[in-house]
Amino acid sequence: MTDCVSDALYRDTVFLDPDLNLSRSGHVCFSMKVLFIGDIVGKIGRQTVRALLPNLVSRYKIGLVIANGENAAAGFGITEKTAVELFGSGIHVITTGNHVWDKKEVLPYIAKENRLLRPLNFPTGTPGTGSIVCAATGGERVAVVNISGRVFMNTLDCPFRTGREEIDRLRKETGVIIVDFHAEATSEKRAFGYYMDGLASAVIGTHTHVQTADETILDGGTAYITDAGMTGPATSVIGIEKDQIIERFLTLMPRKYDVAEGKAMLSGVVVEINAENGRATGIQRLQITYP
Ligand SMILES: [Fe+2]
Ligand SMILES: [Fe+2]
Repeated sequence: MTDCVSDALYRDTVFLDPDLNLSRSGHVCFSMKVLFIGDIVGKIGRQTVRALLPNLVSRYKIGLVIANGENAAAGFGITEKTAVELFGSGIHVITTGNHVWDKKEVLPYIAKENRLLRPLNFPTGTPGTGSIVCAATGGERVAVVNISGRVFMNTLDCPFRTGREEIDRLRKETGVIIVDFHAEATSEKRAFGYYMDGLASAVIGTHTHVQTADETILDGGTAYITDAGMTGPATSVIGIEKDQIIERFLTLMPRKYDVAEGKAMLSGVVVEINAENGRATGIQRLQITYP
């Protein structure tokens, strides 16, 4: 395993000390860490999570693991089998996005498994749920919310208004709230991050599969990154075999796409949160190659 934990751009917002629960004076403080894993692509992505997650959880003393799994089943969608495998690997909550319905068999499963989220702002009556309140390993209550953008994407309910309403509701249950904002446009993602500043503990972007280097803590205490990146084949075009995508751009002809093979990469962020007030105190990007 090659560990390529990135140095953060905003040094004042970053923690690098894995000794989580001790303040400098040695007193116990009420901080917790959440690991968010960017879009898991195919079997290679699932295998990478299974191989790397136990070490990450113990190294960073992670209390809750969230992952976007919209591409977990052969690159397109998620099934009961792949979701169960991801839960078995140590992921507590799975978020999704525009690819959630690519495998039809997910429909009965998502209707009964509330740890598998779909975007909150899908039309009323859509199966599944867009948020959950769960307990981290330290007992802290954490809300996870999945919301989709709509710029260059499907026209859904307004993510800003729907998201605000849901977060106001969830804040009556817990101050620790993690949002997966699944969106294409960096402008929409950054605007959403600022809109949620001081309301959510973290707004973590997904969907583009390319990790951005703009992680920061906003003025109101919300950890933010435009995109957490992808967990899947490193040599690929956002997870797909590169020559297939090049051919598509050259010919504009439709074709079947395969998840690329070879070396893999786990991408994500670790967010440190003061569990007493819900404010983030640190965010750190991870990009780890495997094997
Ligand atoms: Fe994705
Ligand atoms: Fe997506």
